[in-house]
Amino acid sequence: NNPPWPAYRGYHEYSFAHATMGVRLPTILGKAIEDATRTLNEQHDEEKVTDLVQCIERMEALMSDLSGNAKLRPIIDDGEGDIALWNKEIAKYFQGKDFMNAPWLFAEAYKYRRLHECFSVSKHWPDYDVFYRQKCDTFSRSADAVFELSMRFVEPFALAEGISAEEKLEAERLTFLELTQVCLWGNSTDLSLLINMTEDQIKALQSTGGEHLAATEKNILGNHLHKLWDTVKELRERPEIGGRIDFVLDNAGFELYCDCVYADFLIQSGLASQVRFHGKRFAWFVSDVSRKDWDWLLNTMVYGQLFPKATDQEMESLRRLGRRWKQYEKEGKWVYEQHPFWCTGYTFWSLHEEAPDLFLHLSKSDLVIFKGDLNHRKLTYDCAAPASTPFDIAIGPMANSAGAPKVASLRTIKSDVVVGLGDDGDEVAEKLDESEKGWKISGKYAVVLLSDGRPG
Ligand code: F6P
Ligand code: MG
Repeated sequence: NNPPWPAYRGYHEYSFAHATMGVRLPTILGKAIEDATRTLNEQHDEEKVTDLVQCIERMEALMSDLSGNAKLRPIIDDGEGDIALWNKEIAKYFQGKDFMNAPWLFAEAYKYRRLHECFSVSKHWPDYDVFYRQKCDTFSRSADAVFELSMRFVEPFALAEGISAEEKLEAERLTFLELTQVCLWGNSTDLSLLINMTEDQIKALQSTGGEHLAATEKNILGNHLHKLWDTVKELRERPEIGGRIDFVLDNAGFELYCDCVYADFLIQSGLASQVRFHGKRFAWFVSDVSRKDWDWLLNTMVYGQLFPKATDQEMESLRRLGRRWKQYEKEGKWVYEQHPFWCTGYTFWSLHEEAPDLFLHLSKSDLVIFKGDLNHRKLTYDCAAPASTPFDIAIGPMANSAGAPKVASLRTIKSDVVVGLGDDGDEVAEKLDESEKGWKISGKYAVVLLSDGRPG
């Protein structure tokens, strides 16, 4: 049940795995230690202080395991719902493996679980998120794009009166294509790659204007955008389907905000009747969404004072959007959930076997949209598949198991695995390899890929 191509590993020097395991992860962990130390310096209660000191000591031990390339040990039983999944995978496949020779995807996920363990075994800090400050801060520095979207989309998507049904559908199609791209490119601002970005760099990544979108569509190397519209349009044409769309979320802050603007349109246009969002249970790959990040975004939109330079009108547009989104939650039109499987080292080739309840749950969805690079790596087994590999082959059981839902991947390319580029995909990739060093990690290119699934 594995793909025929080898998975990337830390010792593959030609791969981004090498730089990530050797340099990026220790840097990220170093910043996490700085964050916890800052929190330590703000405490007054001795019991909490000494408890946090121990968390920091465990982080330092993790740092030496990581930089010393230690063998992967089981996760300590901290009572969390994912322990059995983690330790089964370690016992079954990775006994005796170390950070560099275990598959990159597993070793990297394992590091984030070990980081969580540093806190989860403590008395006072089990939910501490070392990346929380960073996530909030980046959203507050995204003012231009935040208000561009809130001002434009605060009014419900009422279309001009007296237009024909055809014109209405065309207007909806164009908005759908635009917002799918907004949602896609919202993924370029993940924090694991962009530590210490300047405001201008953030702005350049987040410009959302129409012209800009036409230009960026050229950078979508595997492009099922239009097929995606046909699929989503059908949900409304066949009300018996129900119109449930799921988002397997990636990053908090600006990307989540873009996801929500998109999901708002899907609800308002009647294309979907329910949207279910899937987040993470703890701090994951730096900027991924947890329950706290979800609540923070909605509450800061309604009550926050994050943007001192904004006009009253801008602030009001943000508040109204936030209130509407909270109302969707109350009415059950939007549901936030977080299954333990999303924070394990398994790829989604194992989802139906290792988390059958989750698979059955997703089977009931009319479309599951996976956001971002890590989800894409997990869908595709993070292996060296040729770029011409069709998406539904690359995702294996998530396309061909009985009950596999329709699956879309909206991902800016930030790591080695690239599939779904079409019949001439291998040549396209080869040319980029020659002309544009680093094209697979820059986030400049993207894929929007769709698999039709297999009815159960
Ligand atoms: O560090 C590896 C990685 O998964 C990269 O693939 C990517 O750069 C980053 O972490 C996370 O990206 P995303 O937030 O889009 O999943
Ligand atoms: Mg992420």
